[in-house]
Amino acid sequence: MSNNLAVVGLQWGDEGKGKIVDYLSNGFDAVARFNGGSNAGHTVVTENGRYTFHLLPSAALNDKELLIAPGVVLDTEVLKDELPLVKKEKVLIDSKCTLVTPFEKEFDAYIEKMRGSMAIGTTKRGIGPAYAVRALRLSPRAMDLFSSNYDMRSFAEFYRAFGISIDDMEKWMDNARKILVGLLGDVSERVLDLNESGKRILFEGSQGSLLDILYGSYPFVTSSHTTANYIPASLGINLAIDRVLGVAKCYSTRVGSGPFPTEIKDMLSDQIRELGQEYGATTGRARRVGWLDLVSMRYAIRLNNNKEVAISKLDILSKLKELKVCIAYRIDGSETENFFDALPRLADVEPVYDSLDPIYGYDFNSGVAGTLRKFVEYIEDRLKVKVSLLSYGAGRSKTVEL
Ligand code: IMO
Ligand code: MG
Repeated sequence: MSNNLAVVGLQWGDEGKGKIVDYLSNGFDAVARFNGGSNAGHTVVTENGRYTFHLLPSAALNDKELLIAPGVVLDTEVLKDELPLVKKEKVLIDSKCTLVTPFEKEFDAYIEKMRGSMAIGTTKRGIGPAYAVRALRLSPRAMDLFSSNYDMRSFAEFYRAFGISIDDMEKWMDNARKILVGLLGDVSERVLDLNESGKRILFEGSQGSLLDILYGSYPFVTSSHTTANYIPASLGINLAIDRVLGVAKCYSTRVGSGPFPTEIKDMLSDQIRELGQEYGATTGRARRVGWLDLVSMRYAIRLNNNKEVAISKLDILSKLKELKVCIAYRIDGSETENFFDALPRLADVEPVYDSLDPIYGYDFNSGVAGTLRKFVEYIEDRLKVKVSLLSYGAGRSKTVEL
């Protein structure tokens, strides 16, 4: 049994991972981001205010060791804005990280425009291009900024083929160097060392399982792996992650395009969006809103092989007089509970709902009883997991461990 814990999203992102990582990080020595880049928007609310982290782990306010694994794509401009919140000596970024440069942001917009009505609705943070151009072996890594041999010509030439050029990349590189100086190192080795000395590491997932590049609702996904199995791959070490906590909101949201089986199409979606302030933490876009979807959630739980689930935003559900959960999909007149079977037809499925006793008006100060207890047990029974944490507000105190 190692001392590692992974916190991953079981939906389409924005499950409340940031708040939960901040809350749980007190029991850990180090917190690491392992996937994605500044497309993430993880919000932490403390008595001092509201903070959104795009790159630094959400434990940044807790004086923990903060790690960024090689599988993250790094936008130094975004990092620059977050660094003043932390002590520099607490941060270690892997020098193998792929950089996101101004080229990738332009290319993200270019590809989205090219896709027309098939646009993904990306965060335009250059994430897809960074992973793609890395796979072409053209992208600069963080370490390349400090190498006298680094030659950017092929990288710039590639983008020229799309009519994309950036003035003064030298200046950009100078700035990036200034931001990263003193922060780079071997995160893979550091993680091994921490593990060997019995220290505890929390791995913070970004995005959600259904946005995984390979296992999600392709092509309406992000460009990295988002499930816990990516942690060893991102680090390049055969690390055991034996405790995985999957996070789900008690309803669903999705930002950007793509199939969303349980999307609510009437005024209730506006009501939930306002109650839950469902606006993107990275882009400010209004999130699409739907009911909890146990079909896709079971699939995500199987991928992550997690035995524990955290449920967030229960305070919002307690303001609704109705409570529905999707238990199956109907396709061409037949029903399935298997997300994989539905994957090629996800845009056409019709959700089959179970109506539950609403948790309307629930007083969270009275512990976990009554309708809330029933809801928790229902989820545990349907998904064969333990619901180990409930969150009913943004603040740290609005959390119950079960
Ligand atoms: P956190 O970590 C919600 C979505 C985008 C778009 C798709 C691809 O806060 O949960 P990308 O910019 O990654 O190429 O966009 O993925 N997306 C997210 N949605 N939460 C996120 O992160 C997301 N990161 C990307 O909206 O649909
Ligand atoms: Mg978010």
